[in-house]
Amino acid sequence: MKILVTGKGGREHALLTALHESPGSPTLYAYPGSDAIATLATRVSVPDLPALIAFMKEEGIDLCVAGEEAWLVQGDGLANLCATAGIPCWGPFKQAAQLEASKIFAKQFLQRHSIPTAAFSVATTAAEAKAALDTFPIVLKFDGLAAGKGVAVCPDRVSAETFIDEVLEARAFGAGDLLIEQCLTGPEISIFASVCDDQYQILMPARDYKRIGDDDQGPNTGGMGAVASRELADPDLLQLVESTIVKPTVEGLQKDGLPYRGFLYFGLMLTPSGPQVLEYNCRFGDPEAEAVMPMIQGDFAAYVDAAARGQLDPSLIHFAEGWSVCLISASAGYPASSRSGDAISGLDTATALGARVYHCGTRLNAAGQFETHGGRVLAIVAQGSTRQVARDAAYAASAPVRFDGLQRRSDIATLHFES
Ligand code: AMP
Ligand code: GLY
Repeated sequence: MKILVTGKGGREHALLTALHESPGSPTLYAYPGSDAIATLATRVSVPDLPALIAFMKEEGIDLCVAGEEAWLVQGDGLANLCATAGIPCWGPFKQAAQLEASKIFAKQFLQRHSIPTAAFSVATTAAEAKAALDTFPIVLKFDGLAAGKGVAVCPDRVSAETFIDEVLEARAFGAGDLLIEQCLTGPEISIFASVCDDQYQILMPARDYKRIGDDDQGPNTGGMGAVASRELADPDLLQLVESTIVKPTVEGLQKDGLPYRGFLYFGLMLTPSGPQVLEYNCRFGDPEAEAVMPMIQGDFAAYVDAAARGQLDPSLIHFAEGWSVCLISASAGYPASSRSGDAISGLDTATALGARVYHCGTRLNAAGQFETHGGRVLAIVAQGSTRQVARDAAYAASAPVRFDGLQRRSDIATLHFES
């Protein structure tokens, strides 16, 4: 079987590794991939989506797996083009991928299907947005893809007005409206489901740490670490999430005529009045994928292949007991900026200590050594029978990994568990 994965980061490295370790040993391709991914998959270098589809047809690719979200909504949409070409795709059509690409589309979907979510309004101009600020803290969200950076939880009017000016005057993220949302409180959890038309399977839950600094301080990032375990959500909570959120979402997609095949990620806040949806993503989480993928046993490639063809078979995979902890090493300046070209040392030691090292943003330098190449650089992941064991192993394996300006949180898998 020939499988092509779209994307280039740590999530795709983890997905490709899980596919590589599947019993059928599929032949793997990555578009565009990375130097690290090239050890597992043939990198595909083509200028655009139509050229990618042409490549897949010519090469006889059996399955396309969407890692990154961007191509799902670009041009005619990755899954739409795959469907026209007769290539099964694990990743939704452009129409359904609006659940992630447009926060307003997602909020309207949630309201229409009576799925719990924070109250909101929409502003097009800075004046409108400023006039809508009533209580604080308040949450402001750019209505578009902004790599996790388009959201601000503003404690007061000054910070809210600054963010409004950035988004609606300076256009920091390009054209788009602003969502003004009631601020919810409670622990967050990432719930993943495989959705195949009217069927679904809830996968292992995870929690990610979005702020750059310890104790959840500083700006939001794409994610600085993650922890995953079946024990993260007890059966009662999972049951509630399924009945109030996952099932109504899958039914809502059907009712709205939005066929969906792919991973669907529910970013939830567990508020005192029950779980509420903060966001949908039409793909696996990053860095949650790096934590969850090593826990998958069975035949992941066969599972995804069957589901992309309309047969979701939960018996093809199962999830290991215990815990998995992922620590992100980020480059200097992230998330405001990022620095490339810093030499990375200690990777072999991390692997020798039994951790998995997924590359988020690295490249090989002229000497054949990995160096930083982006904001999030590495995801170092370890498992253990308890959260503490997994956490200690992840930190022990990360310690020898160094590069200039490295940023790594010290409280992953501790914060929100211990007070
Ligand atoms: P989002 O991209 O919509 O998931 O938002 C990113 C992060 O902002 C979330 O993980 C939360 O930590 C925070 N956030 C988003 N919406 C809300 C809300 N309504 N209330 C409180 N925090 C929020
Ligand atoms: N972990 C956050 C995301 O994947 O969007």
